[in-house]
Amino acid sequence: MKKITENLITNESDYLNRRAFIKQTAKLGIGLLGAGAALPILAEKSDQSDLAGEILKTPYGKNLEPHSFKDISNYNNFYEFGTGKRDPAKNAHTLKTKPWHITVTGECEKQGDYDLEDFIKPHQLEERIYRFRCVEAWSMVIPWVGISLAGVLKSFKPNSNAKYVVFKTLVDKQQMPGQRGPILEWPYIEGLTINEAMNPLSFLAVGLYGKTLPNQNGAPIRLVVPWKYGFKNIKSIVSIHFQKEKPINTWQIQAPSEYGFYANVNPNVDHPRWTQKRERVIGKGGFFSPEKRKTEIFNGYKDEVAHLYSQLDLTKNF
Ligand code: MTE
Repeated sequence: MKKITENLITNESDYLNRRAFIKQTAKLGIGLLGAGAALPILAEKSDQSDLAGEILKTPYGKNLEPHSFKDISNYNNFYEFGTGKRDPAKNAHTLKTKPWHITVTGECEKQGDYDLEDFIKPHQLEERIYRFRCVEAWSMVIPWVGISLAGVLKSFKPNSNAKYVVFKTLVDKQQMPGQRGPILEWPYIEGLTINEAMNPLSFLAVGLYGKTLPNQNGAPIRLVVPWKYGFKNIKSIVSIHFQKEKPINTWQIQAPSEYGFYANVNPNVDHPRWTQKRERVIGKGGFFSPEKRKTEIFNGYKDEVAHLYSQLDLTKNF
């Protein structure tokens, strides 16, 4: 995979036109499959893509209008590069994404140290358009490119002790200036139950808008779990570990009274310091009258994931 450069970035209007065309030609297929059927509908040769391999178009998010590349790559949370929303876009050029290795450890048969390209190669690249809802009460719609997390995890053959999956971000103070201070405990850590991780929605993104993921968005590979608050979506992953015990994630360590493990998007449970009933839509409306929308339970993905939480008290956070 080539590193992203300005002139490689897909022209958004071309991209959106192409999507409109694909939507038209795929209409019949979608009609036959039924609304919400999460089956691939059309493989498109990624003519301008700098990602290796074809990108399969899927019906995920077919009714959502993606935000601009500019919005998605200039309004970020990535504390390894600063705490301001524009800091990652300014500072993340120091991250070296090639070569990149991911170590797989714990309760599985195929532990090992995998080169990123070998890690991705056996899996189908897909485009998934998901709404992204931050716990800070803002949202965007993002056209990710990546691979199914379930497919990846199954290939390592987890055993029956693998109840949770834990992900860690790179630690490197030279490349990640934010790690020179104690803003968070490093490395950034996140976890999922094995059933959450195996849910068809769970995704590992390696690109957006058909191109390599910009560093500020978590290059070269980051987690995307669209029914959970944004902080679960760990960036620049270097380790995947299967374990029996429930892990403690970075924001639980940082502020246990405010953030939990499950962190499912839930408009009925407010953050201790603000409401979660509504979200500000990034880039829409003016500074004084930002566009807001009602937050949906599980961020609109209830049909796909509510069954995972039949035992969980949804009137409580975490
Ligand atoms: N991953 C790492 N390693 N470091 C971070 O600071 N921030 C999280 C998450 N993943 C974060 C991270 C938070 S709080 C959010 S909202 C999302 O990344 C933001 O993703 P985006 O910048 O691509 O929108």
